[in-house]
Amino acid sequence: MNRVFRVVIACVMLSASAAYAQSDATRQKGNEVFQYWCATCHGRGAGMPGTIALTAKYKGALPGALEDRTDLTPQAVRFVVRNGAAIMPFFRKTEVSDADLDAITEYLVRRSPQPGERANTGR
Ligand code: HEC
Repeated sequence: MNRVFRVVIACVMLSASAAYAQSDATRQKGNEVFQYWCATCHGRGAGMPGTIALTAKYKGALPGALEDRTDLTPQAVRFVVRNGAAIMPFFRKTEVSDADLDAITEYLVRRSPQPGERANTGR
């Protein structure tokens, strides 16, 4: 019985670490796609139109750089990427595929609160 229990625990741990590695790989991919398509406007530092616009929009209450935000939702990221916002162009699926967009989203919301956690909006 004890042995069966240990085998079960080992299986649970293995599948949990596989899921973790999978989402790690997705975030890594999201980071790459973000650097390619988005960082020219949304990178950290001076002279980035997206970062400047968002700093102005939130008047410093939220970080200007998307990678420093902790309040982004997958729905908001997907909507803005497919529809654009102000001077931000929308992206076609031939540019940013659905899989790429899923990866960017996973990357950007990685620091957002999970269900049940309190939002940290920096305020
Ligand atoms: C040409 C510059 C440019 C590029 C490239 C760009 N953006 Fe933007 N983005 C902006 C600007 C400017 C805004 C602010 C629009 C506004 O004033 O509401 C914005 C807003 C956003 C917002 C809304 C944030 C908020 O709180 O309102 C998200 C999410 C976003 N961009 C994601 C992305 C992603 C992901 C990419 C890459 C696929 C990307 N953007 C590429 C310029 C850009």
